Amino acid sequence: MNRRVVYTRGGLPADVLTVIDEPGPAAPERGQVLIRTTAFTVHPGDLQTIEAYPGTAAQPVPSGLEATGVVEAIGPGTRVAPDVKVGGRVTVFPQPGAWAQWIVADAEVVVAVPDELSDEVAAQMLANPLTTVMLRREAEEHLAFGYDGLLVQTAAGSSVGRLVTGVSQFHNLALVNVVRSDRGAAELRKRFPDVPAVSTERPGWADEVRKAAGRRPVSVAFDPIGGKLAESLLDLLTPGGKLVSYGLIAEEPIPVHASTLLNKSLTLRGMNIGRWLSEASAERRASDIATAKQIALGLKDQFEVAATYGLGELANAVGHAVRPGKVGLVLVRPW
Ligand SMILES: NC(=O)c1ccc[n+]([C@@H]2O[C@H](COP(=O)([O-])OP(=O)(O)OC[C@H]3O[C@@H](n4cnc5c(N)ncnc54)[C@H](OP(=O)(O)O)[C@@H]3O)[C@@H](O)[C@H]2O)c1
Repeated sequence: MNRRVVYTRGGLPADVLTVIDEPGPAAPERGQVLIRTTAFTVHPGDLQTIEAYPGTAAQPVPSGLEATGVVEAIGPGTRVAPDVKVGGRVTVFPQPGAWAQWIVADAEVVVAVPDELSDEVAAQMLANPLTTVMLRREAEEHLAFGYDGLLVQTAAGSSVGRLVTGVSQFHNLALVNVVRSDRGAAELRKRFPDVPAVSTERPGWADEVRKAAGRRPVSVAFDPIGGKLAESLLDLLTPGGKLVSYGLIAEEPIPVHASTLLNKSLTLRGMNIGRWLSEASAERRASDIATAKQIALGLKDQFEVAATYGLGELANAVGHAVRPGKVGLVLVRPW
């Protein structure tokens, strides 16, 4: 028997997600790895995909892209990544249908978990660290980044935001964090005392960012929100600056007049981890995964878990995943 999370129509995840019982998995074929999962996390992006699903599906759609577990079997003649072996701990990403007790994964997306990492960290070891790697790569395309250029990021208390902050500190990159609440800013300052944190609750927050930047040009902004906040970030950028948009939290569009881009030669760029598997070469992906593992090993304390639920509490788990002020991702233990 295999218990799997599915949906058949778009809508509020707490309403449309169900757990079904299906027959146990068949033996893996060539190119496949059979994994007994031990944990998966509920990413905001997973929930957005479910909400946005158009109409009704003919067949239940399996949910989730990332999970961690133990290798039960490897298909005959299958090439696996280094250290992936039967009985070994692994994480998969991006593997459609990862939210299940058993996954027959494509060997290409199966990554061994270092012994030093707990299941809680292992369950978050790929998607968000790889997002951080891709964001940093976007920033590095700006000539001033890593020199005098400064980075600003919104939703800085998010799981991705905390990794971006940790990586920026490690590489000595100047950063100003922006969050939506005074409480969140205070929490971030406590966590990262050397990094300024500004709250958009305060009317003069943009000036606070300028003040924190000092004489440094605001070269790059990372933003998973969009809407009016992204417009404010474009305003904050110095000429030649780059706004990397990587999320859809705001429902309204980004209001940008062409003159805003023209007058300061700004770049507005979208970044989506979904394109990583198809667009990055095998060598680049291997290098990115090695970096993601280093991020997980070096910043273990930033991989917090907001709460842990069982499969039978799925509605509570997805409700918790979008609760304001939570710190860390929501984890589900499927057994
Ligand atoms: N493009 C990609 O490839 C990619 C990959 C990974 C993640 N993402 C996106 O990155 C974002 C963060 O992901 P995560 O896994 O780090 O999430 P997370 O840990 O669940 O954090 C979500 C964060 O969003 C903030 N937030 C929610 N609604 C907001 C609003 N209306 N205004 C300002 N802040 C708001 C929350 O702030 P509070 O603390 O104040 O509640 C919280 O810090 C998500 O939007 C996700 O979809 C994109």
